[in-house]
Amino acid sequence: MPKVTIKTDYKTIEVKDGYPLIDMCEEHDTSILFGCRDGACGACMIRVVDGAQFVSKMGDNERDFLETMAAAPNERLACQCKVTGGDIVIEVSE
Ligand code: FES
Repeated sequence: MPKVTIKTDYKTIEVKDGYPLIDMCEEHDTSILFGCRDGACGACMIRVVDGAQFVSKMGDNERDFLETMAAAPNERLACQCKVTGGDIVIEVSE
């Protein structure tokens, strides 16, 4: 099973392949915050420090939002991401 390490929280959590990050965060008391849960508010912005290839591909809404925010290439919206096929390392984006 893939592992998600949240550097900000010094936590590593094992998840099922294809598991949504938002569900993992809600089950494990992480410091990643959520607002709209729909890719529209940016509250859940994270940086993928390692394993970006194991995060689900970006949809048009997420891409449009991140472009509007001039986000860095490794920034994603946690509410839109699933973990697929390998380990990732993330941190809260400031
Ligand atoms: S919770 Fe609003 S963009 Fe993710």
